[in-house]
Amino acid sequence: MSNQEMKQYDAPKEVKEIDVINTYELEEKASKIIPKGGFGYISGASGDEYTKQRNISSFNDKGILPRVLADVEYPDLSTSILNHKLKVPFIMAPIAAHGLAHETKEAGTARGVAEFGTIMSISAYSGATFEEIEKGLNGSPRWFQLYMSKDDELNKAIVDEAKKDGATAIILTADATLSGNRETDIRNQFVYPFGMPIVSRYLTGSGERMSLNNIYAQSKQKISPKDVEFLSSYSELPIIVKGIQTPEDALLAIGAGAAGIWVSNHGGRQLDGAPGSFEVLEDIAIAVAGRVPIVFDSGIRRGEHVFKAIACGADIVALGRPMLYGLALGGWKGVKSVLEYFETDLTRVMQLAGTQTIEDIKHTKLFKNSR
Ligand code: GLV
Repeated sequence: MSNQEMKQYDAPKEVKEIDVINTYELEEKASKIIPKGGFGYISGASGDEYTKQRNISSFNDKGILPRVLADVEYPDLSTSILNHKLKVPFIMAPIAAHGLAHETKEAGTARGVAEFGTIMSISAYSGATFEEIEKGLNGSPRWFQLYMSKDDELNKAIVDEAKKDGATAIILTADATLSGNRETDIRNQFVYPFGMPIVSRYLTGSGERMSLNNIYAQSKQKISPKDVEFLSSYSELPIIVKGIQTPEDALLAIGAGAAGIWVSNHGGRQLDGAPGSFEVLEDIAIAVAGRVPIVFDSGIRRGEHVFKAIACGADIVALGRPMLYGLALGGWKGVKSVLEYFETDLTRVMQLAGTQTIEDIKHTKLFKNSR
């Protein structure tokens, strides 16, 4: 985004319920109303975008077998994770800079998530303050996602603030010590049109007019199990390590005190050429063996995907880009519409697959599709 374009960043403003036929169409519609630089940043990924595509297409490597004599009606989507009771097995993923999608920024997303009734993940790279986000959340549960500073005193200050705000877990994003090769952002000369108040204390500026690469370079670029130990003992909150794509890293994280594993490849925005996140899930779940819960993201676009991720070892999944498209198209009401779509779609899939509960999905064996 050139400086001129950035000054005039004109985020969508409408607040209305939206019809969701599927989430791919939401992306198409959102592309017409989110300014070019912002849409490129949200929708884009790295390199050939192979990994981003595999995140979605790899769900087709496994099939759900219809079960027709299972005596199922009105499936129950409720579940729990880390002492939270949830009415559905999906939550909001941490995403930076929601203000690119809607003028209400993270407060809009938070309101949609809260009114629907699930967990909001607040990104360290939010364009809104904790206080502003609280206006949307209104006391609803939230987890805080941290991009660490190189300075642990500043990490302590951020964690203190998140705890004061009511975060019940810290998501440590470990896969983003520098930015993937995001060609769309390079082409658009994308810089954030507004600042990032939560992390501005460790940036040379507020975050405004800075590129993601510049911001990542000022965040901690060397992350190890010691960071998990430090955050766990300092915060006394459950630490969920996000960005795990191998059993080895899952075991290292658990050994360092992680209370949860977040299987994610950052929506294909980091290491292109990596497998789809769904492809690595089952092996990680086998290694984790139920010791800590698993959150899964990267590529969830349909109820079938939620079902397959849970059948392969996820406890819950997190929704990313489709939620920002809902925000762009309808503000908080659009966010709620997207969550309702996933609820309806997953209910239908559970019924047709003969699964009454989330526990039943966990015991479902998927069919290996031949391509
Ligand atoms: C920020 O977290 C990004 O991936 O763009």
